[in-house]
Amino acid sequence: MKNNLRLGVNIDHVATIRNARGGNHPDPIYAATLAANAGADSITAHLREDRRHVSENDIAKLSSGIKIPLNLEIAATEEMLKIASTHVPYAACIVPEKREERTTEGGLDVVRGYSYLKNFVNKLLSKNIHVSVFIEPEKEQIDAAKSLGAPVIELHTGAYCNAIGSNQSQELNKLIRSAKYAVEIGLECHAGHGLGFNTVSSIASIQEICELNIGHFLIGESIFSGLEHAVQQMRALMDSARDKSNKETRA
Ligand code: PXP
Repeated sequence: MKNNLRLGVNIDHVATIRNARGGNHPDPIYAATLAANAGADSITAHLREDRRHVSENDIAKLSSGIKIPLNLEIAATEEMLKIASTHVPYAACIVPEKREERTTEGGLDVVRGYSYLKNFVNKLLSKNIHVSVFIEPEKEQIDAAKSLGAPVIELHTGAYCNAIGSNQSQELNKLIRSAKYAVEIGLECHAGHGLGFNTVSSIASIQEICELNIGHFLIGESIFSGLEHAVQQMRALMDSARDKSNKETRA
């Protein structure tokens, strides 16, 4: 039986490989189907302005062709609002986007972008899209997300995954405090970025977090062991860490 921690599999980098040759293989929609069969609860895809991985056509196919919810990651632009309003994914995660970055480098600055984001979030909510904002584990960002009216935050785990030594426990503590605070003030809390087999368990142990979104590591690992196997292994690590932390809480 599944516990209360969901796994969202990000299939962007299947499209990155496909795009390297410009054809149809490997197909991100097929990858999404395999991930769902292997235990993913949702599929995440980041439609970037420069379309470096998934395309709008992929989003159209994912919206109608998969049996689990789609979480569309988008920058807060008019173009992305139009696309989200056309395909109406189950969820949309608003992320910052810089053209020159390799991946989403930091969280969204909800404090600075508050008025613009408020309007953007409202438009997505009016389409019944479950909106999240991707933020750093900082109290002022969580407070701003709450007053935006976004029901969900996704905490950026990149700093924790990249940290070594004592910095890692500092970064983990920030995530633990932030997740607890977010749930206390009535937000749903997700987390993701940079997670792999070595880092997932400590994040999965944080009981306030109910969803992890993981992409790059899983797609990379699938070269060696196959996508289904990689997803199953990730699921098993998440489940065992969460079960252990549930038992510790009850004891
Ligand atoms: N969550 C968000 C909001 C992201 O932007 C990304 C990367 O697209 C991920 C999760 C997944 O990160 P990774 O590919 O490093 O697992």
